[in-house]
Amino acid sequence: MKSRSLPLAATTAAIFFLSVAALSVGTAVVEHTFVVSQVNMTHLCRETLVTVVNGQLPGPAIDVTEGDSVVVHVVNKSPYNMTIHWHGVKQRLNCWADGVPMITQHPILPDHNFTYRFDVSGQEGTLWWHAHVPLLRATVHGTFIIRPRHGAPFLKPHKEIPIVIGEWWVEDLAFVDTTAEYNSASTINGKLGDLYNCSGAMEEGYKLDVEPGKIYLLRVINAALLSEYYLKIAGHKFTVVAADANYISPYTTDIIAIAPGQTVDALVVADASPGRYYMIALPNQPPKPDFQSPVLVTRGIVQYSNNHSSGHDELVRGGAGGSSSGDVPMSPEMPDNHDNMISFYFRGNLTSLHHPRHLPVPGRIDERLFITLGLGSVCRQGQSCKRGDNTTDNLIVATMNNVSFQLPTVSTPLLEAHYYNTSNMELLQELPDVPPRVFNFTDLSLIQTGPKEKKLEPTSKAALARRFRYGAVVEVVFQSTALMQSDSNPMHLHGHDMFVLAQGHGNYDMVRDVAKYNLVNPPVTNTVLVPRLGWVAVRFVADNPGIWYMHCHYEFHLTMGMVALFIVEDGPTESTSLPSPPVDFLVSDEYNLQNEKTKLPQINGI
Ligand code: C2O
Repeated sequence: MKSRSLPLAATTAAIFFLSVAALSVGTAVVEHTFVVSQVNMTHLCRETLVTVVNGQLPGPAIDVTEGDSVVVHVVNKSPYNMTIHWHGVKQRLNCWADGVPMITQHPILPDHNFTYRFDVSGQEGTLWWHAHVPLLRATVHGTFIIRPRHGAPFLKPHKEIPIVIGEWWVEDLAFVDTTAEYNSASTINGKLGDLYNCSGAMEEGYKLDVEPGKIYLLRVINAALLSEYYLKIAGHKFTVVAADANYISPYTTDIIAIAPGQTVDALVVADASPGRYYMIALPNQPPKPDFQSPVLVTRGIVQYSNNHSSGHDELVRGGAGGSSSGDVPMSPEMPDNHDNMISFYFRGNLTSLHHPRHLPVPGRIDERLFITLGLGSVCRQGQSCKRGDNTTDNLIVATMNNVSFQLPTVSTPLLEAHYYNTSNMELLQELPDVPPRVFNFTDLSLIQTGPKEKKLEPTSKAALARRFRYGAVVEVVFQSTALMQSDSNPMHLHGHDMFVLAQGHGNYDMVRDVAKYNLVNPPVTNTVLVPRLGWVAVRFVADNPGIWYMHCHYEFHLTMGMVALFIVEDGPTESTSLPSPPVDFLVSDEYNLQNEKTKLPQINGI
């Protein structure tokens, strides 16, 4: 593609909001330039080279109104291949802009540019954007807010506050071993908070100033790679009004559970007595015998603007971690980090709000899939190998129905192959309707290596995909298994929202569990958390032609292969078919020429 001249953009990391040109119908074209580069940041007494957009962490916010068009010029000044995915944006008839390397586009090479163009119509609420290359989304991410054109169905807040939960990695992410390493801290809006210090110097925390009696809309995003988080603010309650940019019937709670990829919009009324209150984000994890990672809590502070009055007494009375010293903010009481019932109940309490944008749950089902999620192992070489603790013959992978995703070795993105109907599409292997074996999926003894588990462990690698006729109603039951670990799985589908009909513990039982389905007002999300040792049933309409990534949003499950491609075929008309690639889209011949000239370090081969 032609490279654009961006003299200002290249020199300053300040305002990249280039122009908002009003169109006749009241919609606008919102244009941004994202310069991806490496900068040094210092936390925990270590200087780390981080890959960020426009020098910021979190990156720049995109703020648009429903119906607007978005243009983002990505200038890749980093040494890594890059793509940006607009998480939750449906990209209707525009799969080309979905930002998945070698699926929808060639990665953007170092020192190259790429322009994303898409509309945000028929959606409103909080979404986000992130790099869709291994690991780098830990630092290449930002909010993506779509404002309603005709007002939101809740009280107008005094202020809107993004709360991006993330991680700080002191290691250079490019060299992180995806099976063995952990982040060094959790963050709120890029800040580690005062629970972290090195050589006595406390890390700065996020501060939210509030005025007594005012209402705030928190737009909470989990941009972390590894964990679901519990979020609390001492002395305050949340009223959840939306999740994944879909309205929720107002649900009041003192705790929010949010898994990687998900967003939650919640109103908070500053109705406590003026003072200072900790906001705490705690990552949760399965208990032993699952492997235990360090518990990295982060906290920020909610402080009242006229915080000089009677705050003290109130704090003491508030108990729960409050201190007799007026300087110490009140702490919320956090649950045990192994308590996954809190997540289960939080999700079970969400129902969708009756709203003009809300579509009814389709009653008919055209395709049914039952997908097990877990770990498995493949032989590094050949068909058979020793498996176990003392051998490196095998490789642990993550699977869906016992197959681990592997991109075929092709030089053309699959969407191009699909559009031009080339033979590369024959390299895909069909995702089966059901797992190859039925066993007690949630048998906890499968976590530890043993004869029972060893029988179930062998797996294969393939470019796993499933085709759906245009308009097909698909029901998927995701079943988390206990194979080698008992984690939950935040499953994300690109290009579509899913009706979340029901969740449960243990093994899904078709006869018994259908009775639990909410077919009236289920929540609608792009990322659904499949509970640990449990299942979730979702339904969606495959009405967006293209190739859509469907994967676990835990980074390590993703890089280990818990991925499948959902291919939605064209419908009968032009308005139900994938259009041709955009005019300035890099076609493969041109790209391969570029690639030859560029020598680049690669992360995990992408
Ligand atoms: Cu938020 Cu495929 O990702």
